[in-house]
Amino acid sequence: MSVGNQLLVRNVPQKTRAWIDAQRIQYNMSQQEVVLSVLDQAVDYGLELNLPLFPNLSTIVERSVPENLPFTFVDLFAGIGGFRIALEKVGGRCLFSSEWDKYSQKTYKAWHGDMPHGDIREIKPADIPDHDILAAGFPCQPFSIAGVSKRNSLGTAHGFNCATQGNLFFQLATIIKAKRPPLLFLENVKNLRSHDNGRTWAVIQETLHELDYWIFSEVIDAAGWVPQHRERVYIVCFDKREFKQRPLFQFPKKPEGRKPRLDDILETAPDEKYTLTPHLWNYLQRYAESHKAKGNGFGFGLVTPEKIARTLSARYYKDGSEILIFQGNSKLPRRLTPKECARLMGFDEKYQEHQVVSDTQAYRQFGNAVVPKVVEAVARQIVKILAEKLVEKGCLLKRTEVNNYRVENKASK
Ligand SMILES: C[S@@+](CC[C@H](N)C(=O)[O-])C[C@H]1O[C@@H](n2cnc3c(N)ncnc32)[C@H](O)[C@@H]1O
Repeated sequence: MSVGNQLLVRNVPQKTRAWIDAQRIQYNMSQQEVVLSVLDQAVDYGLELNLPLFPNLSTIVERSVPENLPFTFVDLFAGIGGFRIALEKVGGRCLFSSEWDKYSQKTYKAWHGDMPHGDIREIKPADIPDHDILAAGFPCQPFSIAGVSKRNSLGTAHGFNCATQGNLFFQLATIIKAKRPPLLFLENVKNLRSHDNGRTWAVIQETLHELDYWIFSEVIDAAGWVPQHRERVYIVCFDKREFKQRPLFQFPKKPEGRKPRLDDILETAPDEKYTLTPHLWNYLQRYAESHKAKGNGFGFGLVTPEKIARTLSARYYKDGSEILIFQGNSKLPRRLTPKECARLMGFDEKYQEHQVVSDTQAYRQFGNAVVPKVVEAVARQIVKILAEKLVEKGCLLKRTEVNNYRVENKASK
């Protein structure tokens, strides 16, 4: 039955109803938005009722996807440029970066040729060039389990109540509001979503909704790309003013085949200075024992080379306790070398060979970084959506100098 622009659907089969509900929950949409989005997509793609409809859809999308596209991006909270490495691999050009730590700036300059701008709170949005993608791994301390429990025990604020760190998300929101990048690509620690009983995540989502973005998020473990468990939440958002319907974006699947193991990345003859002193080894064992007795799991992570490592953290430089390499019964364990950390994070050889800061700073920088291979995998999925936009508009978003770039040129190569 239909009245004007309204449509009432009766007798919806149970199975269909369940599917709509599942979509609604997964994508945080109303029933109406789900149904309209499906119908809009069918109309836009000119689908006919010769079922099956949606297998056709994926063929259409796949066919129009070039390997990479010339889009622009900005790299905020840039660290050593993990996002930049990945986005450049799929055709992106970096127009602006911000990072306030002087050692990370040094590495960034040596690796990418640009000196990042400093404190993001002092940057006027008007000074940031227009761009297609805003990439940002905003600081994780206030949201991480370690950060939270430490702050709780100190009785200090965390999350959005933490004036110096938490508010950086709102700084990001201010930039987004002013620049309206068509795409946001954010990353944070896994427990961002559960922090403060879910309230932190709720505020972030609410802010992004208010800013008028479609939101996709997923926790991805880098194990599969690198020999390390590293669960991070990736948030990809599309500007609703550019993308009228919710895009068919999907996060990447894990690479198939043999999973990387630690012995793929270990150096053959690491310097002896990385082997623990008896004093440190005794201390770590005593510390682990005392925590075990209290019933909590803190301790060192001793690992054999055929396994995969725990998450490399920014504090690895302190004692290396989370990833200690077993060296046989006649030798004490050792920590990873900075070069091995670069490999553990999946940084290419040219970066592994180009350390411009002390070991301490290098450990901190890798422990804070994203795994470029995972970011690249997500970026390839984003590129598919940009490609669809190209088909629709014949130009890339916010990139006037390539306005006449057409998808056929690239796709037909
Ligand atoms: C989680 S790390 C991001 C690492 C980055 N994704 C990478 O791959 O190397 C967050 C970064 O934000 C930087 N940061 C924190 N507060 C900042 C501020 N107010 N202005 C600029 N950078 C800041 C930190 O120094 C840190 O390098």
